[in-house]
Amino acid sequence: MTRILGIESSCDETGIAIVEDGRRILAAEVASQIKIHAEFGGVVPEIASRQHIQCISQIAERVMGAVDGPVDAVAATIGPGLMGSLLVGANFAKALCYAWKIPFIPVHHIEGHIFSVFLTDAPPTFPFLALVVSGGHTCIIACDAPHQYKTLGSTRDDAVGESFDKVARLLGLPYPGGPSIQEAAKEGNPKAIRFPRGLEKSGKLEFSYSGLKTAVLYEMRKNNAAVGDVAASFQDAAIDVLLTKTKLAIELTGSPRLVLAGGVAANQLLRDRLTTELDVPVHMPPMSLCVDNGAMIAAAGHSRLKHGFTGALDATPTPNLPL
Ligand code: KG4
Ligand code: ZN
Repeated sequence: MTRILGIESSCDETGIAIVEDGRRILAAEVASQIKIHAEFGGVVPEIASRQHIQCISQIAERVMGAVDGPVDAVAATIGPGLMGSLLVGANFAKALCYAWKIPFIPVHHIEGHIFSVFLTDAPPTFPFLALVVSGGHTCIIACDAPHQYKTLGSTRDDAVGESFDKVARLLGLPYPGGPSIQEAAKEGNPKAIRFPRGLEKSGKLEFSYSGLKTAVLYEMRKNNAAVGDVAASFQDAAIDVLLTKTKLAIELTGSPRLVLAGGVAANQLLRDRLTTELDVPVHMPPMSLCVDNGAMIAAAGHSRLKHGFTGALDATPTPNLPL
């Protein structure tokens, strides 16, 4: 039995969890700063790092207090993310490792998202293809073996979650945009406006979401379309591209299964369409593990420890860390 304490602080969530054998969550807590940043329509980096500092030790105490006995290692997100925010979680983790004389495991944030599916009842086996969609990332990754990744395609500009956030702002809907657009879309017609599907026919696995956001802006200036119709039509276009590219990736690689992860994996239309339209099984995290959390970092950390990839106490957070 191996117990890992996982710490996530790359953006606006302070997530801490203890996970056993990379599969079972023994205790977990996520403190979201959404309400604080909503006022500004997006994450304010300086405020984010201060918030992490204010709450991290209390959350850690509660999570550790909920589980009897010690942990074997501490894993923390080392990048990519906001530098100030990453520093808080990584340094807190390192201090614990230094005091307790246990290994420190730096974890890549995307790898964390991918490992969220190992916390489900039906975890995938390698190899698989991962569609990671969040506020900072839109990528298709070939996961051939644990910690062996090849990014097959990513976004040239905005991430898909970022486009939900930006379009929500244009529509006067609250931050974060994903859930509020999904809600507003329920009242609208997804076929009301035909928005562009970026790079849809390029034959490549690259994404582009900035044109879609601009098209929404022009549509709103030109016509007086109902918010529900714009939200539903935008969501339809944004998700459509994810389906097209995922199908292409499966066709090109012959991958036997798909893993969906990241904040946008909470989108119901995306979940439904992937489940019904793909010919391969799809593994996805439950809603609670889609957005940033400490358990996914602990799960990835467990696998890293098992495969001998621990870090040094001088490992430095890197805002644009490659996978
Ligand atoms: O993974 P995450 O918590 O943070 C990053 O690593 O970026 O993802 C947050 C992103 C935000 O852009 C948010 O709008 C989006 O996930 N999101 C959604 C939904 N729930 C969260 N996007 C679409 N539909 C949702 N239901
Ligand atoms: Zn994330």
